[in-house]
This record gives sequence, structure tokens and C-alpha cells, in this order.
Amino acid sequence: MVAASAALRRKPLAVRVLGRPLVLWRGAQGVHATDDRCPHLGARWSDGHLADGRLVCPWHGLAFDVAAPCSPLLPTHDDGTLVWVQLPGEAPLPAPVLPLRPASALVSVMTLPARCSPREVLENRLDPWHGAHFHRHSFARLAVLERADDSITVRVAFRVAGPLAIEVDARFHCPQARCIAMTIVDGEGAGSVVETHGTALGTDRCQITEAVFATSSRPGFAVARRLGALIAPYMRFAARRLWVEDAAYCERRYDLRQEAATGRPSGHTPSCQSQESSDEREPAR
Ligand code: FES
Ligand SMILES: [Fe+2]
Repeated sequence: MVAASAALRRKPLAVRVLGRPLVLWRGAQGVHATDDRCPHLGARWSDGHLADGRLVCPWHGLAFDVAAPCSPLLPTHDDGTLVWVQLPGEAPLPAPVLPLRPASALVSVMTLPARCSPREVLENRLDPWHGAHFHRHSFARLAVLERADDSITVRVAFRVAGPLAIEVDARFHCPQARCIAMTIVDGEGAGSVVETHGTALGTDRCQITEAVFATSSRPGFAVARRLGALIAPYMRFAARRLWVEDAAYCERRYDLRQEAATGRPSGHTPSCQSQESSDEREPAR
């Protein structure tokens, strides 16, 4: 998983996966990806522009023709909310394995870089117990309802205002190697899904992406969906507030793991709070 689908509109997008600089762009036949290096003299394609769905190099105007590519295209998948790229050597799948998303949902996507690996991001998500302690502003209490081989179901109370909290039952599971999904299985917003993805940018850099698919059976939800463009920023704000804290958790766990592996103190301080993230707006679906 490399980007929010909404990030690919009018401009090419630079991304990095496992230290490999890539450029993504949306053409007439969908999203394309290749190495971010023009084969002529090496300009970054991502500094160029799009013209009639073709990627144009900023230095001498070479236009990338996907019918006769001048550098190898990588397989991509755009699920309408998130964009995926398949790197050489990965076991090919026809499509990413994803949790069941609600058919009608308010959608938001939040991204945040952190100095860790996807492992710490997934571990954080599989530790719901920290919520009522580390995110006291958002969670009041948590109880484990069921532990299965492939999932944990918890009853968690989200704070609404002061002591007022709403209890829901939520199931966490791992649909694929770099994603944890949380599905609300009972209570307010049942059927809503939160997908958390960890993407390795380099050896000690990770992009955290959280896609929220919020649904409700309340009559007013149809109105909320029509106001999706106004509501999505608040959804991203709420996700970011938690993930800024959780990125510090992930970085601490990563440092401890590095110290154990090397026998030397890492000497790092949390980095995520001073870094830019690249939230992308998503329309209601
Ligand atoms: S470097 Fe791209 S056209 Fe020359
Ligand atoms: Fe958390």
C-alpha cells in the first residue's frame, strides 16, 4: 500500500518503498507506477507534469507512453481508496487481501511517517489494552470479549464528552502481512472498518496509513454522507491525534528492538511530531 487514491489527481506523486523511489500517476487506464528516474538524463519524473494522462519529464519533455514504456511499469491496484504497487520479487496476488468494507461509508485517509518498521505499527494495533491508559482523552475502558487464533474482540468505550462514553464491540484481525483491520461488530457504527497499514519506506522509516470507513444505520447518516467532504477533515484529525501518540510508541519499541540487536543505545528522540504528513481528502462513497 503506497498512497491514498485521492492523492493521485492532477500531479504525479513521488513515493518511496523499501528505499526505492517511485513515481505514481493517474492516466486514462488507471494508476501507473515506475521508477522515479527519467531514462534520458535521470530527472525525477515526479517533478514533471501530466498532459492528456501522460507523464511529461520536466527537463526535456519526454512523455511516458504506457503502451510503449520507456522504463518498466510496476503492477498497481487502485481499490478506490488506497493504491498498491507490487515490487519485483513479491508473490503476485490478483488483488490485495482486504477486510470487508461497508458498502456505504464516510471515508477518510490519514498518513503519518514514523521512524520504525511496519512491525511496530502492527504490534501497536494489536495492543488495544494501551488505549484506556495512553489515550485517556479518547478511550474510557476496555475489556477483552474473545481471543481467537486469528482475531481479538474487545468491548471498548469511546469518550464522547467528559464521563460520557459510548461502548462498542470491535474485532481486530490481520487480513494481510502489513495491515491490521478493526471492524465494529456491535454497537454504534456497527460495520464500520478501520484499516491500518504499515509501509516500509526505507530501513528505519515507515509510513502509517489509516483508512476509516465509517457507517451507521441512523437515519441521519445519508445526510452525513452528503456532507462527507466537510466531515472527513474531522475524521482525519481524530485519527492523527491518536497516531501522533502511537508513532511515539512505535518509535520507542523500534529503538528498544534496535538496542537489543546491536547492544548499543539508539539515542533517538521521537520524530513524528515535527514531521509533515500527507493527508489526502477522500470523498464519501
Ligand atoms: S531527463 Fe527526461 S527528457 Fe531529459
Ligand atoms: Fe493507540
